Amino acid sequence: MRLCRGGPPPTICKLLRHRHEIDWVMTANIQTRVETLREQLNYYSYRYYVVSDPVVSDAEFDQLYHELVALEQAHPELITPDSPTQRSGSDLSEEFPKVPHPAPILSLSNVYNEAELRAWEERALKLLPTGTQLDYTLEPKLDGLTIVITYTNGVLTQAATRGNGEIGDDVTPNVRTIRSIPLRIPVDPSGPPPPERLVVRGEVLMLKHDFEALNRQQIEQGLPVYVNARNTASGALKQKDSRITATRPLKAFIYAIIDSLGITLDKQWDILAYLRDMGFSVLPDAGYYPTLSHIIQQIPTWESRRNDLDYEIDGVVIKVNDLNAARELGVVGKDPRGATAYKFAAQEATTKLIGVGVNVGRTGRVVPNAQLEPVFIGGVTVSNATLHNYDVVKMLDIRLGDTVVVKRAGDVIPNIVGPIIGARTGAEQPIEPPERCPFSDTPLIKPDGAVDYICPDPHCPERVFRQVEFFVSRGALDIEGMGPQTVKTLIDKGLITDEADIFTLTAEQLLTLDKFAAKRVESLLASIEAAKQRPLPQLITALGIDGVGSTVATALANTFGSIDALVAAAVEDLDAIEGIGPVLAEGIAAWFADEHHRAVLEKMRQAGVKMAAEARVLASHELDGMTFVLTGTLPTLTREDAAQLIEDHGGKVTGSVSKKTSYVVVGASPGSKAEKAESLGVPIISEDDLKRMVGQQ
Ligand code: IVH
Repeated sequence: MRLCRGGPPPTICKLLRHRHEIDWVMTANIQTRVETLREQLNYYSYRYYVVSDPVVSDAEFDQLYHELVALEQAHPELITPDSPTQRSGSDLSEEFPKVPHPAPILSLSNVYNEAELRAWEERALKLLPTGTQLDYTLEPKLDGLTIVITYTNGVLTQAATRGNGEIGDDVTPNVRTIRSIPLRIPVDPSGPPPPERLVVRGEVLMLKHDFEALNRQQIEQGLPVYVNARNTASGALKQKDSRITATRPLKAFIYAIIDSLGITLDKQWDILAYLRDMGFSVLPDAGYYPTLSHIIQQIPTWESRRNDLDYEIDGVVIKVNDLNAARELGVVGKDPRGATAYKFAAQEATTKLIGVGVNVGRTGRVVPNAQLEPVFIGGVTVSNATLHNYDVVKMLDIRLGDTVVVKRAGDVIPNIVGPIIGARTGAEQPIEPPERCPFSDTPLIKPDGAVDYICPDPHCPERVFRQVEFFVSRGALDIEGMGPQTVKTLIDKGLITDEADIFTLTAEQLLTLDKFAAKRVESLLASIEAAKQRPLPQLITALGIDGVGSTVATALANTFGSIDALVAAAVEDLDAIEGIGPVLAEGIAAWFADEHHRAVLEKMRQAGVKMAAEARVLASHELDGMTFVLTGTLPTLTREDAAQLIEDHGGKVTGSVSKKTSYVVVGASPGSKAEKAESLGVPIISEDDLKRMVGQQ
């Protein structure tokens, strides 16, 4: 009776004990069956969402759910407000005018394995004329929000959310701000003529790299970080003021035609091609396959690529390509029979928050870190997750001892989506920021308007460790043979107190360390010696100034030419550089004005570290005075090689597109920079064009 301790009312308890005995036989008593399903499903939801101890599989749940949907459809008089089918319904809000959809905005049934997918096809084939052979499209199942957009004679006239599937929220002004949604079709005036009326359906979302950039920007401006891309996209789409939506990096991918006048296409694959020709961003990486076996072969590839994609997916969608057959198959509840979603294992799970640790970064930022009861999510065991900062902890009301939802997305550190309030026992403890740094015992400070607490002590051993660890790492000075463990030992033994001390380490000192024999010491000293001669941009990157990655560091090196000139630079000089805004300019100036940083730089100079750029010998002056921006993956050159090529011929590379940009070099899967170039009328060129400009082709 473990199942029912402290849990549901006795009737459900009894019901569950007999779950297998009550396998339902078709009887006249439909009402009893509906009631049973309702109680069962509500209890299973409670086990899943509230106590995070599910008693049935997702698939079993779905099966019962769909049975209930079908019965309620046939007998609408049996629908009650507490039916689980009444829960998922609607995202309507009072803020927006309502608009009816021209056809129901349907959902998808789910399958979880090959057998269920095969069974889905078999059910379909039984309903179609004998001998029918089905072919399919395979599309990613994007984890975003449905959008329904109407074009009248080629002009975007309305955009609505899914709402309850029949009626949606009119969010037209907001959708107009999304640059990947054409305001007029076809985008290419020489394309096919626009239909009189076209209503398309797609998904609005934030790409992972845009979401991460948005959060970097939030951090840079001392604002709270967003916890998850889907909710952030949803919040952005439902803004009252479309000027706010416009500042959020939303994207839209279109995958279906809901209604049209003047188009006769009867294959899903042709629809995708047509939508592409009209100028929509269609689903990335969608494919056509002649049989279900071909589809099944593709699924493991999709599942393993999942974390490498720039968009979040929770599965793939398999659609019958022949739309006439799909129409004939009809709909069960809200799910068309002609399509199904193959869902991947959830990247989310619930577990207990058993402790909160504190990380202190190289800049002193204090980041609370959740210690979790280990839980298996999407193939790995997770026992730590970031809590971002104490404002997030407060906002989400996360308490020690809470049952929390943990999400793993890509390579990013897992994060806590939120607590399950209903699972609280009352013993949970609020989480307060520590008063002192656990590593240096210095009182923490929270600068006005900032979200993060800071350990202000530049000699804090944890800050020094993180700083040096970064300084020597591959993306920075790249000192081979100096991993985090060595750095830790050097600090613990008192051999270094900051990153500059590395350059004065001696063989005698290193030989006192465990496992450091003559040979290893010699090679480490050689790497350190070599690191003294790194190019200026690399040195600036290694300093670890907040917001200064390799692109900004290169711009700084190109503009100022030496560390001395940078130390002397005024905020206005920094602000004048492309890609550096006022907040970053202030931050850089403050970094170089800091006494501790100046002392470290002086020690580096004394130790013989090269602090200025060498006069460059150019291969040609072909690109003199021109500014380039690189975006997307180029066919043969890495980003660094392309930048080097441009600089070798006298050109400059910057991070963001403006009117001053001469050319944008675009590769595969370009980011928003290509769109920006287009809107500013900056010429877009390929890698080949670039090579031709410098006489390499
Ligand atoms: S087709 C009748 N295709 O998944 C067609 N939906 O679980 C029904 N979704 O509400 C939708 N990617 O918002 C379709 N390639 C895709 C999709 C997709 C994501 C979403 C859509 C839908 C939900 C259903």
